[in-house]
Amino acid sequence: MEKSYESIPAGLVIRTLGSEIKEFKMDSLLTPVFMILEVVMEMIIPYLMASIIDKGVTPGDINHIKTTGGLMVVTAVFGLFFGLMGAHFGSRASAGLARNLRNRMFENIQNYSFPNLDKYSTAGLVTRLTTDVTNIQNAYQMLLRMFMRAPASIVIAMVMAFSINAGLSTIYLVAVLFLAVFVFSLMRKITKYFAEVFTKYDDLNESVQENVSGIRVVKAYVREEYETEKFFKAADNIYRMFVRAEKMIILNMPVMQFTVYACILLISWFGAHMIVLGSLTTGELMSLLAYCMNILMSLMMLSFIFVMVSMSTASAKRITEVIIEKPVIVNPDDPVKELTSGSVSFENVSFSYYGKNSGRVLKNINLEIRDGETVGIIGGTGSSKTSLINLISRLYDVTEGSVKVGNVDVRDYDLTVLRNNVAHVLQKNELFSGTILDNLRWGKEDATEEECREACALASADEFIEKLPKKYETLIEQGGSNLSGGQKQRLCIARALLRKPKILILDDSTSAVDTATDSKIRQGFRDYIPGTTKFIIAQRISSVMDADRIIVMDNGSIAGFGSHEELLSSNEIYREVYESQVSGAALSDFDS
Ligand SMILES: Nc1ncnc2c1ncn2[C@@H]1O[C@H](COP(=O)(O)OP(=O)(O)OP(=O)(O)O)[C@@H](O)[C@H]1O
Ligand SMILES: [Mg+2]
Repeated sequence: MEKSYESIPAGLVIRTLGSEIKEFKMDSLLTPVFMILEVVMEMIIPYLMASIIDKGVTPGDINHIKTTGGLMVVTAVFGLFFGLMGAHFGSRASAGLARNLRNRMFENIQNYSFPNLDKYSTAGLVTRLTTDVTNIQNAYQMLLRMFMRAPASIVIAMVMAFSINAGLSTIYLVAVLFLAVFVFSLMRKITKYFAEVFTKYDDLNESVQENVSGIRVVKAYVREEYETEKFFKAADNIYRMFVRAEKMIILNMPVMQFTVYACILLISWFGAHMIVLGSLTTGELMSLLAYCMNILMSLMMLSFIFVMVSMSTASAKRITEVIIEKPVIVNPDDPVKELTSGSVSFENVSFSYYGKNSGRVLKNINLEIRDGETVGIIGGTGSSKTSLINLISRLYDVTEGSVKVGNVDVRDYDLTVLRNNVAHVLQKNELFSGTILDNLRWGKEDATEEECREACALASADEFIEKLPKKYETLIEQGGSNLSGGQKQRLCIARALLRKPKILILDDSTSAVDTATDSKIRQGFRDYIPGTTKFIIAQRISSVMDADRIIVMDNGSIAGFGSHEELLSSNEIYREVYESQVSGAALSDFDS
């Protein structure tokens, strides 16, 4: 399957990631500089070695051995120092880049609107923020430390070797050229393999995360075995592909070794002849061999960088995609900063989740709702109740037509003003780790404990909170997993009430609350916030029956709009639902 990030051009990826280096530009620059200095020191050592042998050992000059030996120690110490500095700056630059990337991604994700979020899975975003960034961090560090060092090492070693003996060094040149061609053609193949492995890896990641976050459902449906089987298969696939890729990498080794030993043999053979003839010294031969090893090691390094960088391109693209994603719903240029009335109107509204030319989930909706009115919404699952009210607080924008609040198009309001005035209890509600008070204060940052208690009383949440050992200071676990469904719903309603909104939207928010409490909550709304326009979506007719008017949704259209009595006499769908629930209620009377 083609993934959306695959088509992002390389230039854009490099620019986007590059612009996050920011304050670590200096470190990024110093790393290769120190690495090259290290190489220079490393290259001097075989040269000094030759000198010790030829001018110290052979003629028996102890003084020369001592001074050159001392020089060698100094060179080695400098080499070590430069290497350490390179490593230091390299890790700072790469860890810094990783931090900046994560911050930038997180910041941007916070600005995403609902349509943006529909594009990504939560698991996918988490992988991008963690594993993908780590991949880039490693590749960047490798790149900084080796990208300049390895070629520099090859060039300098080559120059040194040629300056010692041009004739013998041609052997290197031939060997290096041969190896370079071989290694890189092999690496290109390997990279292709790895790219494949990594997309498979991705899929595996996604399925694992989906499975783990839904583990309770897996258990409830006794699907453990099936899921485990599926996972084993995917893991096994990856194992096979890895082995295939690794086999090719291993092929590298014997070829490299063969070339290295062939070089050593040839150089030793010809070198020995030259020594006998007096045109080469023993020391020179030794340093030539040392340079030989150096060059070949650097080639290995280069091929390794090549693999590493191409392996991380997918990660780079995935990170870039998150960073360049533009929020779909943004503030208008000259926003209206005040929302004066809670009246709502829909004018010829059509809506589709995927743009103009795809299936409409709302078709030509026209509605006029007065300030302070209580509106019930009822309709089968998938009849677009949620889609309808999501347009009021601009969680999504209409595809056609307009939604007005207080006679102003919602797209003209300042987003913060609009959302502060339209409190929306989502169907998929969320609580966050922290105390109950912390969670309530999402509704109003500076709410006093008194205000919080009041809101909880209105939402009938006070009863159960008072029974908790630490009451309002009780810690809520991640996602509210230590609360029951109905308790969570009531807390979410209280949180919304703290906003003192002009419009309150409850999307199936009392579905897990018993009918008695449900009706108590609605009575509370009538008594304490009579001026607030209320939208109450429910599956139970008893939850909407006493609303001023009720909207009956059917397959994205309004099938009826009126009071309970009106609908009962004129609307067939409504009557059917009513009858089925009322006759059913006789059986389930015990819960009221
Ligand atoms: N985020 C989304 N992306 C794409 N399609 C969606 C999305 N959310 C809902 N839909 C589709 O829109 C249609 C209406 O869904 P909606 O959630 O509005 O129904 P609903 O009446 O609220 O149902 P329920 O009673 O189950 O909550 C459905 O066909 C659904 O598949
Ligand atoms: Mg819904």
